[in-house]
Amino acid sequence: MSIDIAVVPVAGHGTRLLPATKSQPKEMLPVGRKPVVQYVVEELAHSGIRRLLFITGASKTSIENHFDIDDRLITYLRESGREEELAQLDFERRDIEYFYTRQRRQLGLGHAVLCARSLVGQQPFVVALGDSIIGINAKSDIVQRMADEFERSKADLVVAFEEVPPSDVVRYGIAKPRGAVSDIFELEDVVEKPAANEAPSTLAVAARYVFSPAIFDELVETKPGKGGEIQLTDAMRSLLKKGGKGIGFRLPATEPRFDIGNYESYYQSFVEFALADPDYGPGLKAHLQKLLANG
Ligand code: UTP
Repeated sequence: MSIDIAVVPVAGHGTRLLPATKSQPKEMLPVGRKPVVQYVVEELAHSGIRRLLFITGASKTSIENHFDIDDRLITYLRESGREEELAQLDFERRDIEYFYTRQRRQLGLGHAVLCARSLVGQQPFVVALGDSIIGINAKSDIVQRMADEFERSKADLVVAFEEVPPSDVVRYGIAKPRGAVSDIFELEDVVEKPAANEAPSTLAVAARYVFSPAIFDELVETKPGKGGEIQLTDAMRSLLKKGGKGIGFRLPATEPRFDIGNYESYYQSFVEFALADPDYGPGLKAHLQKLLANG
């Protein structure tokens, strides 16, 4: 794949996870052994991303610290012969160039993406939300497949979608496919939070996108919507309305989205990742079984 730049917005307030997010980013909350954003970076690296631009904000410096090379810690672990712990820092040495810019006011996801314009310039790019993991332990190359399809079909936007229960469509941006839905389908529109009986599908926007730079022109024109925020979905809709070619990617069951943005799915994600831990998963499973058996 020739698209090698990804924008990772991590500047949101994370109010749905208060008080945990009062002074630490939700993107640094652990899911199993790693913070969420480390999974996101590992997934992107696996898909061929080599330049990564974080859109950060106030109280997010721990994200920058996390991807720095910590020579003192490395020396300490090496000198004390703790090779296993040392191996846990291998991610620091990935072949990735990191860039950071601040979203100085939290004006919404669309505004966060617009903050990337100067760096991205006139090239297609990936957007990966910093609070969502794709696939257990981020074992997914969905971004690579989306980028390949973007180039093959000369699209303007490619968006990942996940199947949700009909009762949940009211919480998400929902795909309106053109024609029949298969794993890859043509996207006519995205309807924001429709009522269950009016939803054009049960496919919800799922945290991974590939955009042509044309999206920036739409974002500049996008007026603040719900909650005074500039919505990425509104810019996508307007690009589609102007004849931009949209492609939807349905996430396979083997690559589910783990959304860390609310406690319900954060708890579920943590338990699922902890159960998959080779050392502690079996013990946790036995513990949970005991708890459940005791009501
Ligand atoms: P959310 O839509 O979950 O918003 O962001 P939020 O503000 O983080 O969380 P709540 O609703 O207050 O609980 C989805 C992704 O977009 C980023 C977030 O950091 C998250 O990774 N984002 C959101 C920004 O970078 N800037 C924003 O202004 C809003």
